[in-house]
Amino acid sequence: MSHVQFEYTSPKLEGDVIVPGDKSISHRSIIFGSISHGITKITNFLDGEDCLRTIHAFRAMGVQIEKDGNTVLVHGNGLEGLKKPTKALDFGNSGTTTRLMLGLLSGLPFETSIYGDASLTKRPMDRVVTPLRKMGAVIDGDADGKFLPITVQGGTLDGITYRLPVKSAQVKSALLLAGLLAEGETVVQEETETRNHTEVMLQAFGADLKQNKEGIVVTNKGNLTACDVEVPGDISSAAFFLAAGAIVPGSAITLKNVGLNESRTGILDVLKEMGAAITVSNERTTGGEKIGDLTIKYTALKGTMIEGDVIPRLIDEIPILALLATQADGKTIIKDAEELRVKETDRIEAVCQNLQVLGANITATEDGMIIEGPTKLTGGKISSYMDHRIAMMGVIAALISEEPIEMDEKDSINISYPTFFDDLEAILQ
Ligand code: S3P
Repeated sequence: MSHVQFEYTSPKLEGDVIVPGDKSISHRSIIFGSISHGITKITNFLDGEDCLRTIHAFRAMGVQIEKDGNTVLVHGNGLEGLKKPTKALDFGNSGTTTRLMLGLLSGLPFETSIYGDASLTKRPMDRVVTPLRKMGAVIDGDADGKFLPITVQGGTLDGITYRLPVKSAQVKSALLLAGLLAEGETVVQEETETRNHTEVMLQAFGADLKQNKEGIVVTNKGNLTACDVEVPGDISSAAFFLAAGAIVPGSAITLKNVGLNESRTGILDVLKEMGAAITVSNERTTGGEKIGDLTIKYTALKGTMIEGDVIPRLIDEIPILALLATQADGKTIIKDAEELRVKETDRIEAVCQNLQVLGANITATEDGMIIEGPTKLTGGKISSYMDHRIAMMGVIAALISEEPIEMDEKDSINISYPTFFDDLEAILQ
């Protein structure tokens, strides 16, 4: 691993950024396009490593997928068009690919083996394996299917009613995908709403999916039909520049065409609560997803409480929000975010270790962290923990640190934001 050093002297960020396509929607566009009949044209597809894993998986199952930069054409032949891959599928670092594919593979008439990198191999899969087994899925894997590598012997499934014990859109989506292949109704109930892209997109692709007082209900009625997808900009990527704009003195940034689906905009609520100067303009809807432009300007911030129902609406933004909180006046408490411990790395530990090295006043708790600000950040040696969002937090920290920040690597950023440094350079004055 080659160490990298970040040093920015008196930076100021000004200008427009068009952040890349949404990771969650990009994955789903490939999955739903591949299981539909007809050609799905995807524009603004995220060319990040995770989403490429999903493309590779469907190519390995016989789907013709043409990719030209951020435009992708998926030639779907329906669920029955998918073929047994000739070798085990490598899902790399991608939790979304793994969990959603486990749902789909459970109902397909062949056996598939899947594996991933060191991080993915440590992430819990029992959260999907347990309910899928209740539907009749035959799944074998390390520690009784808790961890990869896993082999799925696809077969007949029965619909179930399942209340999610974890706040996870990946689990919800895995069950809805299995529900497309199961006998009878599959009902998923969630206490706290998680991102709903699967529901929005399945309806656009013609699935029999409805939401009623029982929960989200899907059946295996009918074929899905191809549907063009214009992927909105990823608010989870925009988050790094939103935070940068708010904490780097003199900054003013506009982020264009950002997805504003309410199940994802918790960060905007928190930024407003902290006193950030943020405005939303040019709001419109594309493919059932709200998008708009976000303008952020540097201003004084105050600490806040982040807990409860907002957590799933900003779960991936917590590392960068923690950095932001080190610059806010007073205490910021983050609670109910135990899911952070099972992300690409334990993000509670990674965030706290790194920000402590940089001189922040931050303490880890079981399900979150407590940050007391404002503190000047020194420089120092930190680690990305091979986690894209921890790495980007480190780079943004370097914009306000008094000395350079050294990090063990930066390539993990390609997982979700391959053009991150180009976009940063373009607005750096
Ligand atoms: C995702 C759901 C979230 C999120 C991940 C993408 C998705 O994970 O953290 O980056 O696309 O469904 P969980 O379902 O584990 O909360």
